[in-house]
Amino acid sequence: MNECRHAAIIMDGNGRWAKAHGKPRTAGHLAGADNVRTIAIAADQLGIRYLTLYAFSTENWRRSKEEVGYIMKLPAYFFKKYMQEFLDRGFQMHMIGELDALPADTRRVLLDAVEESKNNTGLSLNICMNYGSQREILLAARRYAADVRDGKADLNLDEHGFEQYLMTAGMPPVDLLIRTSGEQRISNYLLWQIAYAELEFVPESWPEFTPEVLKRCLQEYYARDRRFGGVAGEKPVGSAANL
Ligand code: FPP
Repeated sequence: MNECRHAAIIMDGNGRWAKAHGKPRTAGHLAGADNVRTIAIAADQLGIRYLTLYAFSTENWRRSKEEVGYIMKLPAYFFKKYMQEFLDRGFQMHMIGELDALPADTRRVLLDAVEESKNNTGLSLNICMNYGSQREILLAARRYAADVRDGKADLNLDEHGFEQYLMTAGMPPVDLLIRTSGEQRISNYLLWQIAYAELEFVPESWPEFTPEVLKRCLQEYYARDRRFGGVAGEKPVGSAANL
């Protein structure tokens, strides 16, 4: 059966959801943050081992100062409210992105969450903050070049070797990429890691993305014939046992 070890989500539509409910955009981000907890728990219960969420891209700095400032404060709200529960569930937190450019207090909260959960072995909840995939690949290439220059690496690096320079080093490739809110774009997200991922675009906004919608996405994923560039043959056997 198609196992879904690693799911990644582009959490889109917070602003539209807020507008539709007569609320400010920030209310959409707050509802979105609470939904991260709901979906992380659901993903864990559905057998997903790695959940990677796009919280703030390198392009999101273009938003208003107020909106960026609000999103930067969300991790403090989020981990104060939910960290104990995550620890109890065995979740391990990972941050993906250039954290150095974040406000110092935001960075501190994120790094504390990583540190506090580092001995856990359950769901890997990966939050992408100030992340852009092209930049990630560029930084990886620079580090590899420096290793070659310093005699720590040779020119025979293969794909697997290169992955160790990415911010997702040690994680399996993405099996399923979901984008909420109807847009059908990748938006500079995990370009290397989604090479063979199945893509799903759902109409629900992120605050409306319930565990039921996640299950629907997984059912669709399980039904697909993943060939990884091979020949169409047997339909994958097995069923969505976790559903
Ligand atoms: C995209 O919707 C959403 C974002 C850019 C922010 C996502 C952030 C969260 C869901 C909260 C993050 C939580 C933690 C714990 C860090 P949009 O604002 O672009 O929506 P729109 O396209 O409808 O305007």
